[in-house]
Amino acid sequence: MRQLNSKCHCRQTALAVGLLAVAGFVFYVYHFTAIPVYVLDQLNLRPFFLPNIMCDHCNNFSVSYVIANEKLCAGVDTVDLLILILSYQPHADARHAIRATWGGIRTYRGRNIRTVFAFGVHTDANFNHQVALEQQQYGDILQGNFAESYDSLTNKTMMSLQWTLKYCANAKYVLKTDDDSFNVPQRYIDYLAGVTETRFVGGYCFTVYPDRRVSSKYYVSTQTYPDTYFPTYCAGPGYVLSMGAIVELVAVAPNVQYLPMEDVYTAGMCRVAAGIRYVQMTGTVISRDAMTPCALATWAKSAHNVVPGNAITLWERVMKADRTTDCVGRNLRIFVVFLIAAAAWCKILWNLRHK
Ligand SMILES: *[C@@H]1O[C@H](CO)[C@@H](O)[C@H](O)[C@H]1NC(C)=O
Ligand SMILES: *[C@@H]1O[C@H](CO)[C@@H](O)[C@H](O)[C@H]1NC(C)=O
Repeated sequence: MRQLNSKCHCRQTALAVGLLAVAGFVFYVYHFTAIPVYVLDQLNLRPFFLPNIMCDHCNNFSVSYVIANEKLCAGVDTVDLLILILSYQPHADARHAIRATWGGIRTYRGRNIRTVFAFGVHTDANFNHQVALEQQQYGDILQGNFAESYDSLTNKTMMSLQWTLKYCANAKYVLKTDDDSFNVPQRYIDYLAGVTETRFVGGYCFTVYPDRRVSSKYYVSTQTYPDTYFPTYCAGPGYVLSMGAIVELVAVAPNVQYLPMEDVYTAGMCRVAAGIRYVQMTGTVISRDAMTPCALATWAKSAHNVVPGNAITLWERVMKADRTTDCVGRNLRIFVVFLIAAAAWCKILWNLRHK
């Protein structure tokens, strides 16, 4: 009897400890990891769990244009991909390399591609003159009437999206990128051909917590953004928005708390506020070293931190890349792994039958 009793206690104690451990684990996951953010974001439940990121008409992103470039998307029925590059006046060499490489492609498999560089107003008039000259020569400049700075990148993205709705309404998708990135428009077009979602926001998406160190360049006060984690957002060097998504993001933005990090703001906060799910796109914002000929021929879409010289080398590789010849090694490796797995499986079945 005594023994039974103590056994019973044992079981209860074990149960209690087990429950406590589970509760502790759940508490840990909920408070100290980003997992709930991803789960809630994908379930579209995030707005209910976010400290109020909404505000009442706190932003007005409507600005006048210094260079409006009304005709950029004219002359074709559809612009399948508009590449929107946030640039900075002094980066003329980067723009030069981009025009000579991935920004210079205007059609691919019958699809139309257009490229535009977006600016605010630089404090040095010479730099503004420089982009005005580039507009005359290449016609690919958009300039809004707001001060150019690191803190106005969100204003720049919003100005560009509003411009898209107004002057490039025949665009299907916008690829938002930067002038230090490398993109493979062909791979974006291939990927987007299979997308049916009309409200599409995709890229390399993840969450981080706001930097609370006052000395940091990325400092965010709890007043500006109160929650532990940002909403899941798609990284600025290469995220894609469909026209349907742009309409909604632009509509919601005047009522979403301002944050200078344009990717967190646009592809995170406004996306969540508009109730749009993000899509993880393979091959976006990968490392430059991963851009092998086979990768460029099949799935690699964008890389960050690519200097002009590297862009030219990479683009030559893109133009030469051929999936039938460049992917032989990879296909062979996949085949060998498949053979080994199949052989192991057969061996297991054989052993079971002959036990
Ligand atoms: C950018 O937008 C924010 C929010 O509306 C505004 O407070 C800020 O002044 C704007 N920045 C510039 C440079 O116009
Ligand atoms: C926003 O600003 C623009 C120009 O600065 C102005 O024309 C417009 O009326 C403003 N919109 C709102 C909603 O205040």
